[in-house]
Amino acid sequence: MTPQDSSEMTSHSAIDRQPLERLEDWEEFLQERYADPAPNPTPKSREQFRNYEQLARPGVREFYRINHARQTLAFVQEKKREFLPLRRRHMGIWEAMEYLNTLVDDSDPDTDLSQIEHLMQTAEAARHDGHPDWFVLTGLIHDLGKILCLFGEPQWAVVGDTFPVGCAFSPAVIFPEFFADNPDSQVPEYQTPCGIYGANCGLDAVHMSWGHDEYLYHAVKDYLPEEALYMIRYHSFYAAHREGAYQHLMHDRDREMFAWVRAFNPYDLYSKGHQKPDVAGLRPYYEGLINKYFPVSLSW
Ligand SMILES: [Fe+2]
Repeated sequence: MTPQDSSEMTSHSAIDRQPLERLEDWEEFLQERYADPAPNPTPKSREQFRNYEQLARPGVREFYRINHARQTLAFVQEKKREFLPLRRRHMGIWEAMEYLNTLVDDSDPDTDLSQIEHLMQTAEAARHDGHPDWFVLTGLIHDLGKILCLFGEPQWAVVGDTFPVGCAFSPAVIFPEFFADNPDSQVPEYQTPCGIYGANCGLDAVHMSWGHDEYLYHAVKDYLPEEALYMIRYHSFYAAHREGAYQHLMHDRDREMFAWVRAFNPYDLYSKGHQKPDVAGLRPYYEGLINKYFPVSLSW
């Protein structure tokens, strides 16, 4: 995965390594791991998950290894200071989709979908099932935060299952053994169940591992209903929305809103087939939807 227009990717330091051939390698691994659609999945045993973990391709395993070792509380705070002033670009939503589409990787152009096609496929699946227009729009934009890759961010700081930092890592997070290499594992204050947070403080007060979910939430938080914002912010928080972990940090509103995160998950996971949507034909409908909720230009 390399940005088309970046020259800084030619030499990779250890932390800039890009072990995934395609960003979708991570999502395809998730599809295998969560073979039953939410919201009523058959609970899998720890042993079954271990088996999926054994089957992970070396690139996917290496990706998680780096992600779990590097996502510390200090790293997350640094990334928030770096990106959340949203001072990099001004773009409308469609423009951001076209920008994300410039992300090229080792995918096969004959069979793999472009980033816009992926987004539209998710939105179209939600529209087909009769969800409200803001839900469809959320499907369209939910991965736009992956433009972080185009700002030169490594894969492990853009995608991957998310998890709270500043408190004990749950064994419900994929590859929990890789947290042994996270420096926060050696900080006793961060390794109690609540860590630096109060019990049931609510997830808004909790620092999540940094990536496309949190970044996009901040870019769009003034424009969409609360349900949509939960879907965007926590769509990769599998330990919570699929495994039920981290309840002790959630308040009642989080628990209520997580019904929407779970409702969204099948569209994120299972709508990514190989059938190409008619982007040009669908564009007028989606531009109308974008204009209903978003201003002409947003800060990124
Ligand atoms: Fe995503």
